Amino acid sequence: MKEINYNFNDCPKREGFGSLKWDKYKRRDVLPLWVADMDFRSAPEIIEALQSRLDHGVFGYTIPHEAPVNAVLQYLQRQHGYNARANWLDFLPGLVPAINLFCRAFCQPGDSIMTATPVYPPFIYAPNYAQRDLIKVPLCLNEFDQWTLDFDAMEAAVLPSTKIFMLCNPHNPVGRVFTSAELLQLGDFCQRHDLILISDEIHCDLIIDSEASHIVAASLSKELAERTVTLMAPSKTYNLPGLACAYTVIESSELRVRFQKTIRGIITEVNCFGYAGCAAAYNHGDSWRQVLLVYLRENYNLVRNFISAEIPEIKLRPMQATYLAWLDVRDLELENPARYFEEAGVGLSDGAPFGGPGHLRLNFGCPRSRLREALERMALSVRSASLGSDR
Ligand SMILES: Cc1ncc(COP(=O)(O)O)c(C=O)c1O
Repeated sequence: MKEINYNFNDCPKREGFGSLKWDKYKRRDVLPLWVADMDFRSAPEIIEALQSRLDHGVFGYTIPHEAPVNAVLQYLQRQHGYNARANWLDFLPGLVPAINLFCRAFCQPGDSIMTATPVYPPFIYAPNYAQRDLIKVPLCLNEFDQWTLDFDAMEAAVLPSTKIFMLCNPHNPVGRVFTSAELLQLGDFCQRHDLILISDEIHCDLIIDSEASHIVAASLSKELAERTVTLMAPSKTYNLPGLACAYTVIESSELRVRFQKTIRGIITEVNCFGYAGCAAAYNHGDSWRQVLLVYLRENYNLVRNFISAEIPEIKLRPMQATYLAWLDVRDLELENPARYFEEAGVGLSDGAPFGGPGHLRLNFGCPRSRLREALERMALSVRSASLGSDR
C-alpha cells in the first residue's frame, strides 16, 4: 500500500532555507513550535506534480485555469458536500491579504467588525489597519465544557455600525469545530443585524476528533450563503503555505464584485507552483492526509497526556481540530510566558496577540521525537522553577 511510504518521523533540516519558523531562532538551541506550518515533507504526490510543472520550464504569469478550478470545485463537493461554481472563486496568494481587504471592501472607516476572541491575530489587526473599529467578544464555555460563541454577549455588544462578523472555524487557536446548530444561530445573528459573515475555514480538513465534522457555513442555507464569504486554502492541511495559493468562495455577486474591485491592482496572481500544488493536493493528497491525521492525533494525545502528568499547572481543553494546542499557563504566574519557555529552549506563540494573555499556542505538527523533547524541556524548567530558582 502506498501510505506505508509516508514518513512523518523525519523532516529535512529547515535552517538555511529562509524558514520563518526556524530562522526566528537561528543559531539558538530553541525548538520552534510556534507559527502554523508543519515540520513534515509534503505529500510525494504533490512533490511529483510540482516536479512535473518545474520540468515544463516556462514560468509565465498564470491565471486560474481548469486544473486548479476543477480540483477546488470537486474537492468542495466531495469533501464538504458544497456545490460551488467556478465564478464564485477568486484565487489569491494568501488569506491574510484577503482578511485585510474584506475589511476595506465591506465597511467604511468608522464602521465596526465583530469577532470572537482569542483568535488568529490578523482578525484583530486587520480592522485596525483599515481604521475600522473592532468589537471583541470573548468565547465562552458551553455545557460540554467546549469553547463556543457567546451569543448573549454578542447581542449586547453589536452596534448599528457593525457590518461584519469574522469567524474562524475550525477555530485557531482553541481547536473547536462549530456544529450546524451553532452556525445556524450565528447565521440568524448575522441576518438580524445585517452582517456579512467572513468564515475562515482554512483548517477544515484537519479534524482530529473522530466525533466532529466540519460544516461549510455557506452550505447551510441560501440566506446564509448570500451573506457569507468563505476563505479556504490547501496550505495548512498539506503544509504548502510557502506556495502562496488560497481562494475565496463568494456566492453573492454583489459581494464578489465589491471584493474584486477592492483587490484590483493590489493582489498579484497566484504563481504557477501554487496552482500546481493546490490541484495536486486536492486531487491526489487524501491518502497522505489520512495518515497525517493519525499522526497528529497521536501527537495531540502525547501533548495532552504529558501535560496532565508532568505539568498539571498548564490547562489544555479537549480540542477537535488543527495541530495547534491552546495552553492556559496562568497558574504558572509567569511574567512573560513566551519568553520564559524560549529561555527553556521551546519557541511557542504568545497568546497576547490572539487576545489571550496568559496563554501559549503550541504547534504539534512536527516529528514526535522533537515534540517529546520540547515537552520535556518545558517540564524541566517548570519543575526547577518550582524548586525555588528564579522565575
Ligand atoms: C485561521 C487562519 N487563517 C489564515 C491563515 C493564513 O493564511 P495565508 O497563509 O493564506 O495568508 C492562517 C495561518 O495560520 C490561519 O490560521
